[in-house]
Amino acid sequence: MLFHRKGPFSEDPPNLNSEMHYFTYKRNDLYCENIKVKDLAKEFGTPFYLYSARTISEHFHKIKKAFSSIDPLICYSLKANSNLSILKLLVKEGAGMDIVSGGELYKVKKVNCPAKKIVYASVGKTEEEIEEAVRYGILMFNVESLSELRKLEEVAVRLKKKINVALRLNPEVEPRTHAYIITGKKGTKFGMDRHSVKAVFFQRQEYPHLNIVAIHIHIGSQITQAAPFARAIKKVKSLVDELEIKGICLKYFNIGGGLGIVYDKENPQTADGFARRVMPLLKEMSARIILEPGRFIVGNAGILVSKVIYLKDTPYKQFVIVDAGMNDLIRPSLYEAYHKIIPLVRRKKAENKRQKLVDVVGPVCESGDFLGKDRYLELKEGDYLAVLGCGAYGFSMSSNYNSRPRAAEVLVKNNRAYLVNKRETYKDLVDKEVLI
Ligand code: LLP
Repeated sequence: MLFHRKGPFSEDPPNLNSEMHYFTYKRNDLYCENIKVKDLAKEFGTPFYLYSARTISEHFHKIKKAFSSIDPLICYSLKANSNLSILKLLVKEGAGMDIVSGGELYKVKKVNCPAKKIVYASVGKTEEEIEEAVRYGILMFNVESLSELRKLEEVAVRLKKKINVALRLNPEVEPRTHAYIITGKKGTKFGMDRHSVKAVFFQRQEYPHLNIVAIHIHIGSQITQAAPFARAIKKVKSLVDELEIKGICLKYFNIGGGLGIVYDKENPQTADGFARRVMPLLKEMSARIILEPGRFIVGNAGILVSKVIYLKDTPYKQFVIVDAGMNDLIRPSLYEAYHKIIPLVRRKKAENKRQKLVDVVGPVCESGDFLGKDRYLELKEGDYLAVLGCGAYGFSMSSNYNSRPRAAEVLVKNNRAYLVNKRETYKDLVDKEVLI
C-alpha cells in the first residue's frame, strides 16, 4: 500500500506522507513494502536502518519524469546514503553520481557507475583524489577555487589529459533552511563569486589542459520552495548571457541538489512543481542540465529501527531510553532536526489515550543525545520503534562515538529483506588500531 498525503497514521501531521513511501501499518504492525518490520527487528537485532528499494527507485523516476523534456543527467548525491546496494540500484536505473571524496569515488567504482556520469564537488580535493578521478575519466570536476583550478591544471599536465571543469558559482541567494546547510549564500566556504567566475572564463587560456565548459551551483539542502532555486538560476542565466556575448558557450549547467522532503509539517514542492518552475528558465539556455539530488531520492525511503531499553521517570521529564543514539542518527542533535517516531506495533485507539509526553533519548553520554523531544508515545520497555525519514544523512553521518558499533543496514527489495551492511562488531572497533 502506498502512503500519500493524509496517510494512514491518523495521529500524523497532515503532510507527513506528501512524498509517498512504503512504510505503512497493516492492521497494527508496521510494514516496509510487504515485510513486517518487527520480524526484521527480531531477525537482525536493533538498532538497524531499513530501506525500501521501491521507494528509492520511484523517487528517482519522479525527478527523471518531471525533467524528461530536457533529458538532464541526474547525478545522485551519495553523501546522503552511500550504501553500495542502494548505489547499485540507482546505477541500474540510469543514475549518475555526485561524489565529494576519494572514498566516494571508490564506492561508485565498486558499483560500476559509468565514469562519464560522475561529477566531483568539494572545496578540498587533494592531489591524490584528483588524480584518481582523472584516471577513472570522470565527466567533470566542480571547481571551488582558483587554487584548485591551478592544481587541476598541474595534474592534467602531469597525466597528459584534458580535464572538464565546471566552475562552482556562489549565487548569493538565501534559501530558507537550517544555517548549517545553506551553501549558496555570501560568506560560506562554497563556490566562487560571480566576478571571479567571469574572470576565469575570460582568462581560460591560462589553463590549456582544462576544458572550462560548465557552471555549477548548489544553494543548500532541505529547501522546500522553488523560488530560491529560480533566483539562483536567473543569476546564472545573466552570467551566461554575458559570456555568450564574448563567444563563450557552456556545455553543462549543474543546478545542484537540495530539494526538501517532509519530516514534519513541511509542504515541499513536488518534483513536478519544481520542474514546472525552473524548466522554463533552463530551456532558455542551451547547456545540458545536471541535477544532484540526494535527500529527495532516499530521505523518506529509510527508517531507523530501535528498541526501548528503559523507561525513566524524573520529577521533570519522562524519558524513553532506546538503543539507538546520536552516533547512529546525529541530525536531531546537530540541527535539532525533527524526525517522526512511531511504534512498530501500534496500540489500539483507547490505549492511545494513555500516551505520555516523553523525550526519546539514546544511551550516549551527552545531553544532546536525543532522537525526539516532547513526543506523545505509549511505549513499554522492550517495545520497538521506528524513526522516520532516516534514509538520507542517517547512516552516512553515523559514528563510533562512545565506542558504539555502527548499526546494520537492511534493504527490502522484490519482496525480500537483505542484510546489506552487517552490524559492526567490537572487534571492528579496534581492528585498525595499533597497540604500542
Ligand atoms: N550537491 C552538492 C554539491 C551538495 O553539497 C549536496 C549536499 C547535494 C548536492 C545534495 O543535497 P540534497 O539533495 O541531499 O539536499 N547533513 C545535512 C545535509 C547536508 C547536505 C550537504 N550537501 C542534513 O542531514 O540535513
